[in-house]
Amino acid sequence: MKNSLEKVIITGGAGFIGSNLAEHLFQNGTKEILIIDDFSTGSMANIEHLKNINIINGRIEDIEDLETRLMGYNFCFHLAAGVGVKYIMDNVSKALNTNIEATHKIFSVCSKLNIPILITSTSEVYGVSEDEIWTEETKSLLGPPTKLRWSYATSKLIDEFMALAEFNDGNLNPIIVRLFNIIGPNQSSEFGMVVPKFVEAALENNEIIIHGTGEQTRSFTWVGDVVNYFRELALLEPYGEIFNIGQPEEISIKNLAELIITKTNSSSMVEFISHEQEYGKAFEDPMRRTPSIEKIVSLTGIKPSKQIDEMIEEIVNYKINLKK
Ligand SMILES: NC(=O)c1ccc[n+]([C@@H]2O[C@H](COP(=O)([O-])OP(=O)(O)OC[C@H]3O[C@@H](n4cnc5c(N)ncnc54)[C@H](O)[C@@H]3O)[C@@H](O)[C@H]2O)c1
Repeated sequence: MKNSLEKVIITGGAGFIGSNLAEHLFQNGTKEILIIDDFSTGSMANIEHLKNINIINGRIEDIEDLETRLMGYNFCFHLAAGVGVKYIMDNVSKALNTNIEATHKIFSVCSKLNIPILITSTSEVYGVSEDEIWTEETKSLLGPPTKLRWSYATSKLIDEFMALAEFNDGNLNPIIVRLFNIIGPNQSSEFGMVVPKFVEAALENNEIIIHGTGEQTRSFTWVGDVVNYFRELALLEPYGEIFNIGQPEEISIKNLAELIITKTNSSSMVEFISHEQEYGKAFEDPMRRTPSIEKIVSLTGIKPSKQIDEMIEEIVNYKINLKK
């Protein structure tokens, strides 16, 4: 029997992807959503227009009656986490606690209540792997613990291990997704996310600051495609499986800045600063990050819908409308 998505839980639902997911689920028949969020990086503005949401405002780790509160829900999308390079580097311990302790708590409750769960992991788990294209089987190559940026990847890998261990023991029905640089409406520039930061700077004709040489490439994925995949996966029930969600098209950060300057008709100049200057010695950055998305495309039959040009245009329009 297919999962019902009539009543769902979204942890981190006031955040960027969570709020887009809530909207998408309501448009596709979901009747009620419980959002659990501590509003550390999320915002009420992202969800206040939505009807039929219940909100628990708090850290998952601190909610005492979580089991009672989750009773009667059909599916859990677990998105709450310490996210974003800047946020992680500023809050290493807090982010580690959330990503491990909160996730463990959600797993225990979902396992007791028999609620299937989708877990949002990250392309960071591949580290600096030198493989051309990263499939779900690619070996991780993480830096040492003295480089604190790897704490995020490590905590997400622990989440994946915990989920698969519980699945193997027959206790939990998890689906794991590894997300590659997601962009779109509701993404804040405050926590170091490159596209909203560059677009905001360009619209103000301010300097665009690139960390490193700008030769590093990334592949950006539209949030609308991501939430579509989430819903499809929840319905298809591939429990115990890991899926990359991304876009194989790569762009260097330097070219991204130039594209944004063109699309905004901006007079912004580009400045380069070293990673060390911005984040100190404990930082390392992979030069490229390109997903194989064969697995998810062949399961769902859905391909990413937008190229980078189109995504940037939509984000620029979104930011301009916000200012009106
Ligand atoms: N945006 C991306 O490019 C990207 C890439 C890889 C993975 N991810 C993963 O996707 C998920 C969603 O990311 P996002 O980009 O929407 O980030 P986000 O920061 O906008 O969303 C995270 C949400 O979780 C909430 N939160 C944090 N700690 C919490 C806690 N202890 N209890 C309750 N709520 C808490 C925050 O307030 C926020 O609303 C995260 O798990 C992230 O690791 C995102």
